[in-house]
Order: sequence, then C-alpha cells, then structure tokens
Amino acid sequence: MMWFLMILLASITLHTLVCICSNVCPKKCVCDSAKSVQCFRLQSFPTGITKDVRKLNLGYNHIKQLKGRDISGLTELEEVIISSCGVEVVEANALRAQGLLRSLDLQKNKLHQIPRGLPPSLETLNVGHNRITGLQESVFEGLKKLRLLDLQNNQITNLRSNTLSTLKKLECLYLDGNQIETVQGALRLPQLNLLSLGNNKIPCFPSSFFTPLQSLTTLRLPGNLLSRVPLDLPHTLSYLNLDRNQIRALRNREMGQLRNLTSLSASYNRLVSVDGGLRLPNLTVLELPGNQLRVLPSRLSPKLEKLDCRQNSIQEVTFQHLSGMKQLKHLFLENNTIWNFEANALRNSVHITNLALEQNLLSSIPDGLPESLIRLDLKGNRIEAVQEQELRSLKRLQVLNLRRNKLTSLPQITLDLLPRLRTVYLDGNPWNCSCELLGVKRTLLARRVEIPKELCNEHVSEPGDSWRAYLMAQDRCEEYFMETAPEDQVEQTDTEEYYDYDS
Ligand SMILES: *[C@@H]1O[C@H](CO)[C@@H](O)[C@H](O)[C@H]1NC(C)=O
Ligand SMILES: *[C@@H]1O[C@H](CO)[C@@H](O)[C@H](O)[C@H]1NC(C)=O
Ligand SMILES: *[C@@H]1O[C@H](CO)[C@@H](O)[C@H](O)[C@H]1NC(C)=O
Ligand SMILES: *[C@@H]1O[C@H](CO)[C@@H](O)[C@H](O)[C@H]1NC(C)=O
Repeated sequence: MMWFLMILLASITLHTLVCICSNVCPKKCVCDSAKSVQCFRLQSFPTGITKDVRKLNLGYNHIKQLKGRDISGLTELEEVIISSCGVEVVEANALRAQGLLRSLDLQKNKLHQIPRGLPPSLETLNVGHNRITGLQESVFEGLKKLRLLDLQNNQITNLRSNTLSTLKKLECLYLDGNQIETVQGALRLPQLNLLSLGNNKIPCFPSSFFTPLQSLTTLRLPGNLLSRVPLDLPHTLSYLNLDRNQIRALRNREMGQLRNLTSLSASYNRLVSVDGGLRLPNLTVLELPGNQLRVLPSRLSPKLEKLDCRQNSIQEVTFQHLSGMKQLKHLFLENNTIWNFEANALRNSVHITNLALEQNLLSSIPDGLPESLIRLDLKGNRIEAVQEQELRSLKRLQVLNLRRNKLTSLPQITLDLLPRLRTVYLDGNPWNCSCELLGVKRTLLARRVEIPKELCNEHVSEPGDSWRAYLMAQDRCEEYFMETAPEDQVEQTDTEEYYDYDS
C-alpha cells in the first residue's frame, strides 16, 4: 500500500514536471491550460510558443510584419488576434499552414491590402480600421467557410461585387466608414444576412445589386448620398436604416415588397412625403425625425408601436392620421409646428404610454388623451391655462412636463386628478403666485409629487430665505386654505408601483 502511494505521488510529480517542461511559456507571454497564449510589449513575433497552441492573442504589441516562417509551426491555431500592432504587411500565404484557423483579427493596423492566401477554414476575418484602398481581384478565393467579413473604416472607394461573390457562406459584411463612391455588379451572396454600408459616399446602386441577396434581413445605409430608396430591396428585410441621406419620398413602388419589414429609419433626409398607399404590414418602428414632412404618415401598419416624427413641419394631428395605430406606444412629435391636436385624436391608441409634444405651438393640453399615458411632454408650447377636464382621463400619468409655457395658474390637483403623478415640471412660466397657486403647490407637496422648489419663490432675493418666504406666503394664505381646503387634500398617496415608460 505504502509503495503504491509513493509510486503514485512520484508519477504525479513527474507528470507535472513534464507538463511544465513541454509547455514553456515565452517571455512577456501568459499561457493558460486552454492552449491560449497572450503576449505583451513585444517588438516582434514571439518565438518559443508551444506547437499545440490554439488561441494566440498578440493585440497591442509592435509587430510590423507577419511572415510565414514566424507562424508556420503553429498548426493547431484556431484563433489569431494581431490587432493594434502597426502591422503593415502580412506575407502572402503566411497563414496557409493553419488549416484549423477559424478566426483572424487584424483590425487597427496599417495594412494596405487584404492578405492573400488565407486558409480555407477561416470563418471570421476582421481587417477593419486599416488603410485598405481596394479589394484585389480573387483575394477571397477559396474562403468557402467565411461567415463574417469586417472591412469597416478603410479607404475603399469602389465596390466591385464580383470580388466578394466567391464568399458563398458569408452572413455578415461590414463596409461602413469607407469612401465608396461607386458600386458595381450584383452581390451574389445567397447567405448574407447583414449588410452594413454606412458612412460612405454612395449615390445609387445598380438595379440588380440587391436582387441575389435572398437571405438579407438587416440593411444599413446611413450617411450616404442616396436621393431615393434603392430599387429591388430584398423582400426578406426586417430592418432598414437610411438615415442621413437625401431621400425625398418613401414610395410604394420602391418599398411595397417589404412585407416583413419591422423597423424603418430614415432620419435626417429630405422627406416631404410618405406614400399614402405604402403598406408595410409588419412595421413596428418608424423613425423619421429631421425631415420636411407636413403631414403625419398614416395607414402604414396596424402594428406600429413607435412613431418618431420629431423635427418636421407637421402642423396638425387628427384622428384620421392616428386611427389605424392601435398598437402605438410611443409617439414623438416634438419640434414641429403643431397648433392643432384634435380632441380624442388618439382614442384608438389605447396602449400609448409616451407622448412628446414639446416645442410646438399648442395653446392648450389636447383634450381626451388616452388613459394609458405615463409621460406627457408639453414643454415649450404656448399653453396659457390648464383645465381640470383635460387632465381627467390621465389616470396613469406619472410625468407631466409643462416647462416654458405661458401658465399663470393651475387647477387644484387633488388625489382624484392624476392619481399616479410623480413629477411635474413647471419652471419657466409667468406664474401668478396667488393663494390658489400656493394651495396647489401645497397639495402637490403633500402628495409627494416632485415639483420645482422655486415655484413662487422668485420674489425672494436671498437664496437661504426661500423657505421662510414660502412659509410667510403660506401664512398669508392660511385663512384662504382654511376656507377652501377639502379634507382629502393632505392625504398621501400610497407608493405606486414603478412603471418603466421607456421600455
Ligand atoms: C417573413 O418572416 C417570417 C417569420 O420570421 C418568415 O417565416 C418568412 O419566411 C419571412 N418572409 C420572407 C419573404 O422573408
Ligand atoms: C408579416 O405579416 C404577414 C401578414 O400581414 C404575416 O403572414 C407574416 O408572418 C408577418 N411576418 C412577420 C415576421 O411577422
Ligand atoms: C428643431 O428643429 C430645427 C429645424 O429642424 C433645428 O434646427 C433645431 O435644432 C431643433 N430644436 C430642437 C430643440 O430640437
Ligand atoms: C393673480 O391672481 C389673483 C387671484 O386669483 C387675481 O386676483 C389677480 O388678478 C391675478 N393677477 C394677475 C396679474 O393675473
């Protein structure tokens, strides 16, 4: 028994020693049991790495060149990271021996070209943030397993589709932040799911460019020079971003086929119209801020949950515009010139929680707003008075913003009015600090509604005196309160459950 234990101990020790000897870790490197090596502050490719290493992370070193002979012995590599190293050249076929390599990260270097002769096993290639000016002919040949190609933030000026068309398995292609001015051919990438071409200089696409993309669900084209929605967008799209282009209209002709589209964003274009006949049956999010719309788009989709038409030139909002939007939750209309918001215009939108109407020309709170509202923003309008009846329906309202209007008074806001109110913003109004208004303030404070402390303290010159002045003013009004205060006025609300209106 004793002998057996000793032999066992000895063999364990020996085994440990052998492991340590065969797994020497090069200087300035950290090696772990999962066959992963990471090195720091190197001036050249490290030597002495064990041959069975699977993951090599050389990010943030100083390596000007990657040569075949540096790395050819490491044939088990599956993942290589040589990012932020100042690499200028990767020798052709340098990684040819890495038959198991799945992921290569060369981003944030100084490469002028995509390395040639990459192993066919590659699934992910990141060469973003380099100095690549073009895609060489047949540079991707043989990469039959590549699923993700990241070329963003290079200096590519011309996109020739056939260079990419050998990548039959490609699912994600990022070309944002280049200087692409011309796009040629048809992109024959049947598996492509995501195409991102933001922040280039693309004025238009050839008519058949998108046709072969039978799996595309996400298309991002923001920050280009498009003057119209590209033709023949794949009907598989569910997300389309056209922000910051020069598009003037959304037309049925170009978009009618997008029956699976759920999110469309065309912010900061030059939109003057959205086709009345445009039907996008699955659209839930529509973002059109910063355009020149005079009329709210209507009848687009019965599933719409978020409509953002901030910063347009909309003047009126009527039931006719909104009647089909039964699922609407968020309606953003700030910074328009809305002077007429028809009474009960939102009566079909019984799920709406957020209504933003700040920076418009409203002279009163719209009548008949839905009970579901949690947040109502009316900052910067021309509201002169608030009527009790306008607030009656708002049983769930938590936040009311009335900043910078023309209010001089408020109705008494007892518990039966706005029972869930938590915060009311009131500064920037020409308040008449009468006993009535101090009474409203007192009620709101007793209800623990958050209100600006300064309300009706403006006449106090010493900041430290504000509370005393408030109390004095209250003293003056005490008699008035005795006569008018209803019993329930100082009752406190229960703590309401928190409702996250941003979700
Ligand atoms: C639309 O989406 C549904 C559900 O995700 C999917 O089954 C269908 O194939 C899609 N249709 C098209 C044309 O992409
Ligand atoms: C889109 O809407 C159609 C009917 O309008 C429906 O058949 C289809 O499943 C929807 N697609 C998605 C992704 O919801
Ligand atoms: C309102 O819109 C105008 C014009 O679109 C813009 O210049 C301005 O910055 C916007 N103001 C706010 C407060 O968003
Ligand atoms: C301020 O309110 C008091 C009491 O309601 C009223 O008598 C007075 O005329 C108002 N002053 C102004 C300037 O509106």
